[in-house]
Amino acid sequence: MDNKVVYIETHGCQMNVADSERAATRLRAAGYELCDSPEAANFVLLNTCSIREKAERKVFHRIDDIRRERAGSLPVIGLMGCVAQLEGEAIFENAPAVRMVAGTGAVDRIPQLLGSIGGGVRRAIDLEGRREGEIWDASPSERRSKHVAFVPIIEGCNKFCTYCIVPYSRGRERSRAASEIVEEVRGLSERGYREVQLIGQNVNSYRPKSDAGLEGFRGATPFARLLRAVASTGMPRIKFTTSFPRDFDADIVKAIEEHENLCEWIHLPVQSGNDRVLRSMRRGYNVARYLEKVAAIEGSRRRLSLTSDIIVGFPGETDAEFEDTLKLVERCRFEGLYIFKYSERKGTPAATMEDTVPEALKTERFLALEALQMSIEREIYQSYIGSFVNVLVEGQSARSSSDLKGHSSCNKVVNFRGPSDLTGRIVRVRVTEAKTHSLYGELSVEA
Ligand code: 5AD
Ligand code: SF4
Repeated sequence: MDNKVVYIETHGCQMNVADSERAATRLRAAGYELCDSPEAANFVLLNTCSIREKAERKVFHRIDDIRRERAGSLPVIGLMGCVAQLEGEAIFENAPAVRMVAGTGAVDRIPQLLGSIGGGVRRAIDLEGRREGEIWDASPSERRSKHVAFVPIIEGCNKFCTYCIVPYSRGRERSRAASEIVEEVRGLSERGYREVQLIGQNVNSYRPKSDAGLEGFRGATPFARLLRAVASTGMPRIKFTTSFPRDFDADIVKAIEEHENLCEWIHLPVQSGNDRVLRSMRRGYNVARYLEKVAAIEGSRRRLSLTSDIIVGFPGETDAEFEDTLKLVERCRFEGLYIFKYSERKGTPAATMEDTVPEALKTERFLALEALQMSIEREIYQSYIGSFVNVLVEGQSARSSSDLKGHSSCNKVVNFRGPSDLTGRIVRVRVTEAKTHSLYGELSVEA
């Protein structure tokens, strides 16, 4: 094939977004063209997620869609990401249209894999881990946004929470050298990026092999030192996700207090408000310990926005145990909450647990928790009315072309009226209205 046009579609978390950016960068360097829709491509890469059954099923629906839409000129379909890693060879049998499978460690080798297809070779697969030196060695030049950049600091997970597939799909934790991270953030700053998000399945476990890049920075943990090192680059806004409660050290709150550019947002998934369920999930903390972390966050001099994740209907969860979750949510008053119905993942310890909760009951609990959270969020969002938030303008709002849209430093979606040339700038907005999951305001002055 002489014209090599690739379309990459990304599902799942920010780590997948970062992987797609790296794959795109490698493909461009290897002479591929990138495009924004599957119609024009002769290579379609689906970057897949397997966190819940629904996410996993979506990939196979997408493959069917593409087969239907491109019946006469089927592109080479490739899978990367978590489903690719977990299902491996079996994908070729279950979805014969797929011709390439690249595991989570093979991102950098995707051009070679695609290149090996053709001339009698129908399929290619690579499930090996990353090779030394290959790992995050360069800042990707193909980025989804010109203003906000995802910067991976640690990949994989060693926690083995009993419900979670990630340790299997992404392997053991590997931390990236701090000197590389700091250098990447500096480079992004020079290229006009206004925000970086330091990402990892558990950023608090960040533990690089050497001190390089962290010299001279204090901190109770390597992650707290990294935060201070990254803050010192002068990047206007720095966010990080995801924090793991057991490893979340109060020194992180101190670092945020010391550095204006560390944003006032902490995502700290609690998963359940009941000690027995937390033990069965093997989370390594109980409700009291979680609340200690919350108290440190609430006690900050800055108003920090706390968000969380909760799974309802974990095996064996009783009505009374679910009530504990409702109570915890009432106590914590999260500014945002992702609620998930427990989804059994083959190969995880929880998949063999008995007393599964019927789907209808999971739905009932989901709706009850959602209703509670909505009422709390309504009050919290109302409380922002009259206050000022700093917003990084990401572009025009989808709803109205005269409105701009962005995220505040406390990670709220904010819409306001303004000229589109403010895109990429950080502005001060006075909040005038609270909507569901977003704020509306008016431009005050440029921050
Ligand atoms: N079922 C439902 N939700 C899950 N999550 C992780 N694994 C599962 C599962 N098997 C949720 C957790 C996690 C978020 C990213 O996804 O709440 O924090
Ligand atoms: Fe999905 Fe988890 Fe893989 Fe991210 S790491 S793509 S959330 S399964």
